[in-house]
Amino acid sequence: MKFIAIVASLVALVSSSKNGSPLCYYDDQTMQQGMGDPAPLGYSVKVSKSGGSYTVQLLNQDTTAVYQGLLMFVTTPGGTDSHLGSFTSYDTSKFKNVNPSFCSNDGVSGLASATITHKNPYDYAVGHGNNFTWTPNSGDFSNGNLSLTVIVSAFTPDQPSGRPPWQHIPEVVVPK
Ligand SMILES: *[C@@H]1O[C@H](CO)[C@@H](O)[C@H](O)[C@H]1NC(C)=O
Ligand SMILES: *[C@@H]1O[C@H](CO)[C@@H](O)[C@H](O)[C@H]1NC(C)=O
Repeated sequence: MKFIAIVASLVALVSSSKNGSPLCYYDDQTMQQGMGDPAPLGYSVKVSKSGGSYTVQLLNQDTTAVYQGLLMFVTTPGGTDSHLGSFTSYDTSKFKNVNPSFCSNDGVSGLASATITHKNPYDYAVGHGNNFTWTPNSGDFSNGNLSLTVIVSAFTPDQPSGRPPWQHIPEVVVPK
């Protein structure tokens, strides 16, 4: 079911991705079918525990690098069906929740605030870090550490093919 929903979503990917991801769920194979091979765009993520929450910082060694697209969520390691916890304290002029109906279409459960995407078709410099706060729901760590997935894309008007370079940041541990 999930695979069929994703293929259907891909048809919409190019036309509707400018104001947020039309996908709630992600895997490399699906992304490659829709957008071609991943590119090393230089992004990385730092997760730091702070009380009962975590600061998630999107970074690039090149502080002038710009990106447009973002899809981000926390799962159990390798998990696909449930996006855990919630994201807050981010720049709501740039980012928003993925439309919850996309998540239910993709067979993903979780709070709306568990899946974050970009809001506009603009270039954003990561600068010295774009920060998000992630807070687990009770019980999210019952099986140990969790995993943060981040996909960044750099669609620009210079790429009218609609196949923006994209990077899957290797899964980042969210320690219990
Ligand atoms: C982002 O988070 C890092 C790590 O907690 C912190 O050092 C930095 O000051 C934060 N940046 C902003 C703009 O809040
Ligand atoms: C959980 O994450 C911490 C910090 O990265 C690591 O030291 C620890 O080994 C991990 N635990 C397991 C069971 O993988």
